[in-house]
Amino acid sequence: MKENFVNIIFYFTGSGNSLAIAKRIGKKVGDCNLIHVNSKLGFIKQIEADVLGFIFPIYSWGMPVMFKKFVKQINIAKSNYVFVVANYAGSIGNGLGLFQKEMIKKNIEVDAFGDIKMPSNYVIMGNSHSQNEAALVIEKANILIDNFAQKVLDRQKNLMYKVKFPGKLLTSLVYPMFAWYIAKSDKTFFFTDKCNGCGICEKICPVNNIILNENKHPVWQHHCEQCHACFHWCPQHAIEFNKKTADKNRYTHPDIKVSELF
Ligand SMILES: Cc1cc2nc3c(=O)[nH]c(=O)nc-3n(C[C@H](O)[C@H](O)[C@H](O)COP(=O)(O)O)c2cc1C
Ligand code: SF4
Ligand code: SF4
Repeated sequence: MKENFVNIIFYFTGSGNSLAIAKRIGKKVGDCNLIHVNSKLGFIKQIEADVLGFIFPIYSWGMPVMFKKFVKQINIAKSNYVFVVANYAGSIGNGLGLFQKEMIKKNIEVDAFGDIKMPSNYVIMGNSHSQNEAALVIEKANILIDNFAQKVLDRQKNLMYKVKFPGKLLTSLVYPMFAWYIAKSDKTFFFTDKCNGCGICEKICPVNNIILNENKHPVWQHHCEQCHACFHWCPQHAIEFNKKTADKNRYTHPDIKVSELF
């Protein structure tokens, strides 16, 4: 006989896409605790859940570094059904494979793998979607999210997509460099005179990498995850990542309020 525990979804997010997916799946599955993986999350001794989900954005064809560390250190004591959803903007690589590898080390079988294309929030070497472009991507994504949520509800298996050689190569070569470089990548970040000292950037950073100085302006602490949250959520568009980001789009998921991420 199956024991009944609460359902839990762990998510990491910068611009809100992963939380929007978590909310949509959580609503369908019911009785779901949505837990934001950030530096406010204390140590979790062990996890017991009926349905246990993990949702993260793809960064450089891999997993957000702090999310990977989180997944490595958790102890899943009991779970009846485990799923994972990676969301990405165009090229997923073997990001889900990295997750699967961590679960295999724990002897946990992942029942369902999801990959959902969402609007891009990446601005350093490309551009994120505008809110109008994003609306079309979200419309298509919502259909896929609902299909996936139904599978979770029915406790169906959903195998991982087959990762082709170029995807595996990008993950194995580029992702480690990304993971090595991001902490100090904030050295080029700056604020402009549009900053009014509201403090949202300090509150929204998932890793406490921003502290406001005595003039209420952001100072970056060089342990950045490159989630892009400070750039996109600043209400004054006063944060720049380098001199080229001034003309880039600011994107946040339309169904997510900034306060949901504090
Ligand atoms: C640092 C960084 C790296 C990214 N790398 C990739 C990538 O390799 N492939 C891809 O398709 N999208 C990439 N993206 C786009 C995000 O995966 C995508 O927009 C995601 O839906 C953002 O989710 P979030 O709003 O929950 O943070 C990257 C975004 C960031 C911020
Ligand atoms: S969120 Fe923007 S306006 Fe507010 S303190 Fe930070 S940089 Fe300044
Ligand atoms: S400083 Fe900005 S980009 Fe870096 S982790 Fe914090 S919110 Fe994300």
